[in-house]
Amino acid sequence: MSDIPQDLFEAARRARGFAHVPYSRFKVGAAIRSEDGTIHAGCNIENASYPQGQCAESTAIGGMIMSGAKRIVEIAVVGGEEGTGTLCTPCGGCRQRIREFSTPETRIHVFDAGGWRKSYTLNEILPDSFGPDNLGF
Ligand code: THU
Repeated sequence: MSDIPQDLFEAARRARGFAHVPYSRFKVGAAIRSEDGTIHAGCNIENASYPQGQCAESTAIGGMIMSGAKRIVEIAVVGGEEGTGTLCTPCGGCRQRIREFSTPETRIHVFDAGGWRKSYTLNEILPDSFGPDNLGF
């Protein structure tokens, strides 16, 4: 796909450096471009009580909301070492969290530490999704 956002990759890669991952050792960074053009980055934050851990996408969404923005235009996720084969796509829960603040055309760009791997629209990774419109919002 054309239009790979290098600035989002760099913001997500920088955020990944802050990952708190003593349990999985799997560092992830995410960076959102919101509708006002600003960038909001976050890392995964694990917890000794394992289920309390938080994905990088959640941290980035929290930053976006705290800036006053509400709409994700595109989001970059960086995870995994260069050329390891597997893609660090957002987990199911994060797909739903992203969906809350997206349109069907919102783009999700997946990178590994070495660079771009694949891009999707929100609708491609979460088709027929449930969202605010289902509740009349
Ligand atoms: N993780 C993320 O932060 N984002 C993803 O897209 C996939 C998984 C985190 C959760 C956990 O801290 C670690 O990666 C291993 O699952």
